[in-house]
Amino acid sequence: MTQSSVQVRAGGSAGAPTDHSALADGGDARAARLDAELAALDTIEARLIAISDAIPGRIAFSTSLGIEDQAVLHAIAATGRAFDVFTLDTGRHFPETLETLEASVLRYKPAVRVVFPEASDVEALVARDGIMGFRQSIEARRACCHVRKVLPLNKALAGAAGWITGLRRDQSEGRSHVPFAAWDAAQGLVKLNPIADWSLETLEAYIAANRVPINSLHARGFPSIGCQPCTRAIRPGEDIRAGRWWWENEDGKECGLHNRPKPKEAHV
Ligand code: ADX
Ligand code: SF4
Repeated sequence: MTQSSVQVRAGGSAGAPTDHSALADGGDARAARLDAELAALDTIEARLIAISDAIPGRIAFSTSLGIEDQAVLHAIAATGRAFDVFTLDTGRHFPETLETLEASVLRYKPAVRVVFPEASDVEALVARDGIMGFRQSIEARRACCHVRKVLPLNKALAGAAGWITGLRRDQSEGRSHVPFAAWDAAQGLVKLNPIADWSLETLEAYIAANRVPINSLHARGFPSIGCQPCTRAIRPGEDIRAGRWWWENEDGKECGLHNRPKPKEAHV
């Protein structure tokens, strides 16, 4: 592997609602060059090495422990490079998801940081909306995702220069233009999606060829797995994200991790 020619430098803390717009110009251009470089590479391992070469500073990988992220985790371990692997424990996961975490740590021995929401935030949320409050309204659902996912994500990414995810363009209409690399002004870092162009078939072939451990729910009709109360199995022919927040319109079905408001609009 040749040393990447692209150097993407990000500055400042990513966690607080700070205005990163001053960094955006340089970040945008350098992330665009990295995006083109990653598109020209054939394997996920080569892409991860290029990312590691290009970005000085901490590169975080957020894993939901879903099938996409298990492929990325396997590839990360194969590169031998240092990545900061973390998962957000919302407190509402399926037991099978936690079993996947355990199996992954045993198989790959990565240090997976388990990041929890602030107890006082969850207590205030539950006191206001109730333990199943996310069923009351879309606003209440988003408030729950904000406390249990978005704020912990901000905390986990604070100070990181890069953020790797397992987003794929095939997953939904809203993700159909996901780039390999882009400047994330909200976080003040480069967001990286190294399997953005993978089809489900490519993903499943990679998992099978490498015997990567995956969540047992995938074999039971759950292609996309989030929190237990907000995820159901899909029926034959349904969209792969149809089981997520199934009572909501397709347009708004994101939890805020990836369609983030600009820092000035962010709320707690
Ligand atoms: S979500 O936004 O609808 O919940 P999805 O389950 O498709 O997202 O996962 C997309 C990406 O978001 C994952 O590849 C991962 O990077 C990140 N992600 C989602 N949930 C978590 C989680 N609980 N912990 C860490 N990262 C997560
Ligand atoms: Fe809360 Fe459901 Fe969002 Fe999980 S997916 S954080 S339970 S609203």
